[in-house]
Amino acid sequence: MMRTDPAGSRFAALWSDLAAIGRDGRRGGYSRHCFDDADLQLREWFTEQSERRGLDVEVDRNGNIWAWWGTPGPGAVVTGSHLDSVPGGGAFDGPLGVVSALLAIDELKVRGTRPAVPVAVVCFVEEEGGRFGLPCLGSRLLTGAADADVVRRLHDSDAVSMADAARRAGIDPRRVGADPDRLALIGAFLELHVEQGRLLHAADPAAAIGVGSTIVAHGRWRITVTGEGNHAGTTAVPDRRDPMIPAASAVLAARRIATAHPGAVATVGRLQPNPGGSNVIASSVQVWLDVRHGSASDTAALVDEIFAEVRIQARLEGCDVVVHRESMSDQVTLDPALGVELAEELGAPVIGTGAGHDAGVLAAVGVPAAMLFVRNPSGVSHAPGEHAETADCLAGVQALADAAGKLVDGAPG
Ligand code: GLV
Ligand code: MN
Ligand code: MN
Repeated sequence: MMRTDPAGSRFAALWSDLAAIGRDGRRGGYSRHCFDDADLQLREWFTEQSERRGLDVEVDRNGNIWAWWGTPGPGAVVTGSHLDSVPGGGAFDGPLGVVSALLAIDELKVRGTRPAVPVAVVCFVEEEGGRFGLPCLGSRLLTGAADADVVRRLHDSDAVSMADAARRAGIDPRRVGADPDRLALIGAFLELHVEQGRLLHAADPAAAIGVGSTIVAHGRWRITVTGEGNHAGTTAVPDRRDPMIPAASAVLAARRIATAHPGAVATVGRLQPNPGGSNVIASSVQVWLDVRHGSASDTAALVDEIFAEVRIQARLEGCDVVVHRESMSDQVTLDPALGVELAEELGAPVIGTGAGHDAGVLAAVGVPAAMLFVRNPSGVSHAPGEHAETADCLAGVQALADAAGKLVDGAPG
């Protein structure tokens, strides 16, 4: 029955399964984070959908879920994405790639494809870093780009360690870490993703699908400014050591300094005063800074300019500053041969992206990886307004099936 349903109704059914999971009534949109209740529900959903399709499901040592069509082995064509979201995120970032991967397998089966190599759909753990702060956690662990000891000790905002969260999800944290044998199975990785930004529209307003070229360097830093907690009404201004002043300077410096570097962006999207009372001068403030620029060295230079400004303001205010780098990913070029082939076949524009992706983590270690982007007319992403029309999503499924079909080199029946 799955094979004969029109793709549109199968897409609608899968999409409606996901609609209620992890809705965030307070922020709007979705909050689905690594191994939380919503994520566990999504993982169950993925397992069930994969099994219904006759795929063999396995969870790797890092919690990434793999659904195999054929016996796992070298040269596998792997497609997929992630199911987690940013806090209050949209419905499409991640899940669209997973749903499309399942539907692309349906489509290949309808076409009678008999893959000459194994095919897998993968759901990577914690792509957004929304819970433990390290984006692309699952793919970084897989490739060895993240140190297992460091990852096990990461904590969420409720002081729950990654190790404890993994245990709750049935994953043995002692086994978390690089998985070279599994990595070696991947012959090619295809990730379909909702377009984030307006580059596809700028390249061709009529194009429903784009092909990825490069991912800019990006990193995250946590700045802790410590001053002296005190009374907001009785502490004279000259007596204050208010950490919010240097923290505020980080917000403004991020905008000013990024503006001075064409192509760069710098954002403070999260700032946490301690203790956080409206009539209390904070004793400390944590500021999370996200910076993206051409290369890792460009990004590091820009970040240093921002820190210099914060340190000046901290000195003037009598505060201390400690900086912790949470993550850094250098610029990545997706597989040029695959990208050119896909763009020619699909007649799709080739675009770069300012967003990070598991495909980038795999490409960085030499896996031939390509990305397909589905049109998102407003460009809004990481927010509830993120949207793609169903017709464009279905065009994405067809494009993914075409791309995967070519790679698996199956004979149509
Ligand atoms: C993930 O989507 C990121 O770019 O931060
Ligand atoms: Mn995202
Ligand atoms: Mn994503």
